[in-house]
Amino acid sequence: MQGEAEKFLDLLEKAQHITVLTGAGMSTESGIPDFRSAGGIWTEDTSRMEAMSRDYFERYPKLFWPKFKELFQLKMSDSFQPNAGHRFLAELEKRGKDVNVFTQNIDGLHIEAGSHHVYELHGSLQSATCPKCGMQYGRAQMLHEEVPKCCQCRSILKPDVVLFGDIVQHLDTLFQVLNSTDLLLVIGTSLEVAPVRFVPEEAHMIPGLKKMMINLDKTAYDQLFDLVIHRKIAEFINELNRFPI
Ligand code: APR
Repeated sequence: MQGEAEKFLDLLEKAQHITVLTGAGMSTESGIPDFRSAGGIWTEDTSRMEAMSRDYFERYPKLFWPKFKELFQLKMSDSFQPNAGHRFLAELEKRGKDVNVFTQNIDGLHIEAGSHHVYELHGSLQSATCPKCGMQYGRAQMLHEEVPKCCQCRSILKPDVVLFGDIVQHLDTLFQVLNSTDLLLVIGTSLEVAPVRFVPEEAHMIPGLKKMMINLDKTAYDQLFDLVIHRKIAEFINELNRFPI
């Protein structure tokens, strides 16, 4: 009977086109809390979700920004580094695999780890845009003022992240890429949020598409996967000692 690690490596070996879907659990071993585990960002205080909505931003932009910065530790996000899980995905590319990473995370760690085909479904912490004139600004401008404003028209900037009520990005690409994928690898997501939660069922209808999940907790979709590993991603990869640690 193949162990988890052997089956994991076997499915990886056989795949050429790999679609990866990641969530906040990808970055907890880099020191960034997830949302719904114990100590998670929403678990700690569910009212935070209401503040991270498009509606709240539009009504109370001056209250939104200090909450946003505090929640996403904008000031310190330089201090977070990719972990062995991020590096493993970049290494798969170096070994000639065709890897597309679709992440719900806004921390930029997949790009920092060296993955080249990264689609940030929920946007990124790295920039903010003026809702009026469309000027885009980097992190420095976001940190420069408590409530960052456009240098051109002085409107309050909106961070380039998908807030509750915004449209998720790159979804069409995700469902398109799935159709030419050998292996779907889901890592570190509770699959609780639509439309990402529909990906496993969508993938289940594609003949021959193999599905693996590495997630600490059970999800409502475990039974759709060929292999489910309830482990911490970086810890599991380090134990494989077949990839850079
Ligand atoms: N390794 C593997 N899995 C982990 C690890 C780890 N080191 N740490 C946590 N997990 C798992 C948890 O068991 C949990 O099921 O990662 C999952 C994280 O789930 P959530 O906290 O719900 O985060 P996520 O799925 O990314 O949330 C999706 O919801 O609120 C929105 O915008 C927010 O992007 C977020 C989206």
